[in-house]
Amino acid sequence: MNDTQIAGIKGRRVWDSRGNPTVEAEITLASGAQGRAIAPAGASRGTREATDLRDGGSSLCGKGVAKAVANIDGPIARALIGRDVLDQSGADAALCALDPSPSKAVLGGNATVAVSLAVLHAAAAAAREPLWRRVASAYGRQPSIPLPEIQIFGGGAHAGRRVDVQDFMIMVPGASSFEEVMEITNAVYFAAGDLMASRGRLAGVADEGGWWPAFDSNEEALETLCEAIVKAGETPGDRVVISLDVAASEFGRGGRYKLALENRELDSGEMIDQLGRWLDTYPIASIEDPLAEDDIEGMAAFTTRFGGRVQIVGDDYLVTNAALVRDAASNGACNAVLIKVNQVGTVTEAVETYLTAERAGWRSVVSARSGETEDVSISHLAIGLGAGQLKVGSFTRSERMAKWNECIRIQEQLGASAFVAGAPLHNTWWSKKNDRTTV
Ligand code: PGA
Ligand code: ZN
Repeated sequence: MNDTQIAGIKGRRVWDSRGNPTVEAEITLASGAQGRAIAPAGASRGTREATDLRDGGSSLCGKGVAKAVANIDGPIARALIGRDVLDQSGADAALCALDPSPSKAVLGGNATVAVSLAVLHAAAAAAREPLWRRVASAYGRQPSIPLPEIQIFGGGAHAGRRVDVQDFMIMVPGASSFEEVMEITNAVYFAAGDLMASRGRLAGVADEGGWWPAFDSNEEALETLCEAIVKAGETPGDRVVISLDVAASEFGRGGRYKLALENRELDSGEMIDQLGRWLDTYPIASIEDPLAEDDIEGMAAFTTRFGGRVQIVGDDYLVTNAALVRDAASNGACNAVLIKVNQVGTVTEAVETYLTAERAGWRSVVSARSGETEDVSISHLAIGLGAGQLKVGSFTRSERMAKWNECIRIQEQLGASAFVAGAPLHNTWWSKKNDRTTV
């Protein structure tokens, strides 16, 4: 065997940030070099994303992964052992050939994503390169340090539907360095906590570590976020802007949107008007899944109306699927895509989606899931692809901080000038207003 041939593959059950079982894959090369990766897990999942194979039954709330691990140790190992680890697309094609189902339901998307990422890690080990550099060289990309989107309040499916909107986040496009983004986020996060404590509203944290949204309306959360930005010594809309993940598929279906708090139902047009009022009132530079995944007309109408001033990101709507991105671009729906490798199941397919979005003139945000682990592959992917933006949840809890901290380490190798600052938001009102366009 050559040094770079895959000699062994092992699956194992490990545990994620919610205490659920998940899948780890470990690949050993003939040289003895190894690569290892862990599958994350979503809670607010798009209906068309890759399926996590779970054992069902009563133990572990039905979430066991014995079948997915067995698929790694059995059919996947048989298909990949002997392959050259440097051939990522070949390995991923072999996974897809083993499981031609549209949602990787046979092998499990949790099995395929762990293996596919482990192949990438093993290739980096074989090439004696850090993962981000392997990504950049394998795909011919210019690496850069992304602008983070960081959650201050959780919500939606990550907080028992306490408020409708799932993520109230900040971006700091006006920061001059990644370190400054971290410092300002620290200040805003604790200012928000202090405000909630002073109002008797502090009630712990949501799934991704953002403050639990003990609010009476979505607007109250937005107001409090603006107050926190001010309390942190910043002017909302100046260096710090707001990013929302509405995750509207969680409360919208068939063009009807049921707002939990207000006991009100909106049609698609009313929902768009409502979001438009928020865009007029608050310094929102990015909005994800503003309409439900089945509301294609609504998504196109929203993009026609607001696409010139705000980043509109498709997550549940596009599920990191290149064909769906192509359709959405031709329908004029969205102008950016969320990239979650486990939504589609392999690195090759996720990169294809990323490149498809880029060819459409779209932006991309590489993203974690709400169920995460110590695995930091996505920091390397975002940096290696030069994706420009990275979303990993809040500014607490080690499964989140591990990703930000990895960016800090990589930046030492790349140099401070690799930070993209506000460039990803060049077509939003933020940069127009501030006239700080850098691309
Ligand atoms: P999920 O949420 O990982 O629970 O799907 C993250 C998101 O919607 O962006
Ligand atoms: Zn989302």
